Amino acid sequence: MSEAGTSPHVVLGVGGGIAAYKVAQLLRLLTESGHQVQVVPTRAALQFVGEPTWAALSGRPVHTDVWQDAHEVPHVRLGREADLVVVAPATADLLARAAHGLADDLLTNTLLTARCPVLMAPAMHTEMWEHPATQANVATLRARGVVVLDPASGRLTGADTGPGRLPEPEDIYAASRALLEQDAPDEAAAGDLAGRTVLVTAGGTREPLDPVRFLGNRSSGKQGYAIAAVAASRGAQVVLVTTSSLPDPDGVQVLRVETAEQMRQVVLDRAPAADVVVMAAAVADFRPADVADHKIKKTDDDTPPPIVLVRNPDILAEVAGHRARPGQVVVGFAAETGDSTSAVLDYARAKLARKGCDLLVVNEVGVDKTFGADHNTVVVLDRDGGEHPIARGTKADVAQGVWNMVLSRLAPRAG
Ligand code: CTP
Repeated sequence: MSEAGTSPHVVLGVGGGIAAYKVAQLLRLLTESGHQVQVVPTRAALQFVGEPTWAALSGRPVHTDVWQDAHEVPHVRLGREADLVVVAPATADLLARAAHGLADDLLTNTLLTARCPVLMAPAMHTEMWEHPATQANVATLRARGVVVLDPASGRLTGADTGPGRLPEPEDIYAASRALLEQDAPDEAAAGDLAGRTVLVTAGGTREPLDPVRFLGNRSSGKQGYAIAAVAASRGAQVVLVTTSSLPDPDGVQVLRVETAEQMRQVVLDRAPAADVVVMAAAVADFRPADVADHKIKKTDDDTPPPIVLVRNPDILAEVAGHRARPGQVVVGFAAETGDSTSAVLDYARAKLARKGCDLLVVNEVGVDKTFGADHNTVVVLDRDGGEHPIARGTKADVAQGVWNMVLSRLAPRAG
């Protein structure tokens, strides 16, 4: 592990796939941004990109097996010193060896000695990716806390297309940074939101039907609370508008509301003072047209009463469309379901455009995913077409990643 304040040590394991050539670009991104990178190619990787390329780009000699410099016990040293291990391309064979704890070269030995976060970026033919053996190995690795990115979809080595492409080097780099920052959030982030005012919404709105009943949703508010708490810990002045009854986060001004209309009033009132507005609330799109004054009773003939709904205002679109302050950053959240990751992201990109926000934090929801859970996996889309995965982690980890992304869009403060 590096000392606080020194440049992070990254072990870049390169697997034997044609996409190894793209990893040279990832290596550049890492070294040019001050990381100390030790490249550990597999023997097969050197068939695709030779040792001189890795040595020249990293400024260090590269080793592939445990017998070179054996007196230094390199696999133990590399594993201990690393702040992050990134494996790209992670071939089907490497995923299998890592999942089974095999240790037949320097890279797989290092994977067993490393105690830091591990990120794997797969690349292979679609059939190999979809094979139950590979999927089981990925599930094993993820269950152990390894971050395995989904491969991108598109043109593969030959004329074929489909899921299996190496994610873009910029995206692997962004995921690497997010993991390093999650591991040292205090050091990386202390005070970087000082002097900023942020407005956050959380929880699901409750739209009353009568004095005792409402239409609601499953949002727990936990992600919005984590967004607010992390902003406060990074020095921001935070106003949290919430429907949830979770305990107030430290150092956050909490304003409680119930309905979408109440949330809209408070948000529009507070937005002009905010440098950043984060709409993490699950706002109901519809509300009952009439709220009964008295509890709705069963009728003698048991006919269910009709519920007529009307549209709620879209608070996010309204805030994003009428920026009260220049340079304000507006962030939306989208919980989407889809038949594939790309379908989810297609819906989300259309939503970002429709709402007019700067960033959209996208969760894929399904059974046991996201709602009320303590962990979350998200992708942040930006209005310029960028797509930034945030590594799986707690909702606080995701909040750190979201604030890093917001900071990169905030204009520097005057003075
Ligand atoms: N949102 C809002 N006001 C609404 C509905 C949603 O401000 N009336 C905000 C949410 O807080 C969230 C984002 O819009 O940040 C996306 O919410 P979502 O429910 O996914 O968007 P919808 O426009 O309702 O899309 P869908 O048709 O998929 O439900």
